Amino acid sequence: MRMYDLIEKKKVGTELSDDEIKWMVDGYVKGDIPDYQMSAFLMAVYFNSMTDAELSQLTLAMAHSGDMVDLSKIDGIKADKHSTGGVGDKTTLITAPIVAACGVKIAKMSGRGLGHTGGTIDKLESIPGFQTAIPNADFFDIVNQVGISVIGQSGNLAPADKKLYALRDVTATVDSIPLIAASIMSKKLAAGSDCILLDVKTGSGAFMKSEEDSVKLAEKMVAIGKNAGRKIAALITNMDIPLGNGIGNSLEVIEAIEVLKGNGPADLAEVSFELAANMLYLAGKGTLKDCREEVSKVVRDGSALSKLIDMVKAQGGDVSVIEDTSRFKTAEFVFDMIAPVSGYINHMNAEQIGIASVVLGAGRETKESVIDYSAGIILHKKTNDFVTAGDSIATLYSSSSDVFDSATKLVLEAYKIEKEKKATKDKLVIAR
Ligand code: URA
Repeated sequence: MRMYDLIEKKKVGTELSDDEIKWMVDGYVKGDIPDYQMSAFLMAVYFNSMTDAELSQLTLAMAHSGDMVDLSKIDGIKADKHSTGGVGDKTTLITAPIVAACGVKIAKMSGRGLGHTGGTIDKLESIPGFQTAIPNADFFDIVNQVGISVIGQSGNLAPADKKLYALRDVTATVDSIPLIAASIMSKKLAAGSDCILLDVKTGSGAFMKSEEDSVKLAEKMVAIGKNAGRKIAALITNMDIPLGNGIGNSLEVIEAIEVLKGNGPADLAEVSFELAANMLYLAGKGTLKDCREEVSKVVRDGSALSKLIDMVKAQGGDVSVIEDTSRFKTAEFVFDMIAPVSGYINHMNAEQIGIASVVLGAGRETKESVIDYSAGIILHKKTNDFVTAGDSIATLYSSSSDVFDSATKLVLEAYKIEKEKKATKDKLVIAR
């Protein structure tokens, strides 16, 4: 086979065979196919897309390019979830303990922040001592004993995706629905869970800004999962407004604990509980109505919070900060953002709020950046709220004083405050 011929086929819209796709992925990982040829192929996919058969084969070849995690040493059904990324999205910290408290195992590999979006592993590492890189045998033991463990992705999980993602990043081919679907699903299939719930975010803070593209992405990923024999579903959820009020690692852990205590922001609780109920439904725990009731029960009786505490203990974390969140290290510098005018907040650019939190130190500007775990933003006012000039709309936190000029500018510009109230109220869970 010749890579030239595969590029030509994709260029003119001829379907590639399973063998051709497998040969191409293997050859690229081994270094036999150069970046310039793979770049041409990716750009041809960007313009000509892929058939469902091609996409399933590409995803499988990428998943099998490294370790396929075998979770058979863990008893019972294992459920996973994946968010396509958002601002203030700490739902895994809430849904995973809830699902585990309902008796479905969580053996989850999560990622770090990407661009303006946060990552579960960075958030968990804001808990002093919490270990996210642990050997598979210990990971399996923790899940068997506690029912839940969340760790970072192992070095050899879908290496084809790592290489392809880096190439897409510099060849303007990240925003291709089939390539995003293959990238996400290759890692999910390699991570081994029986049931996968996808949380496809849509809106200004998401990678997919339009609902139409989010639905297309969700449908592609669900089709890939079904072809691979997994139980899979997707929710399309609102990311036009940051989720909850806290953005930044320890601020988000604190807010997740509040929700597990039955408090916390209503939007975050609603989305997290619906995700948890859908995970339980996929795992065969009854009707969606039964599953929603189970979710409420384990939050009310405290068993979901106990699961989080058990996981933190098992992974070496300091549980005293979970039991008393005022023990989390706080940022040295704090700045209150004041509303410049009175009116209704009719829109927020959630991506810009995410970028502001990165500027404050909650995310990485470069691969080498060190995260400031206490940095971030607490939003006091969000879309649909009324503000009076002089009210505090957000509080910004950082350990560095010289980042506030640019961060406050970004936050202020992200708010659209108008005299007239917008007619519609945004739905949180948009579709299933
Ligand atoms: N997240 C991924 O893992 N891959 C993509 O291509 C985009 C978002």
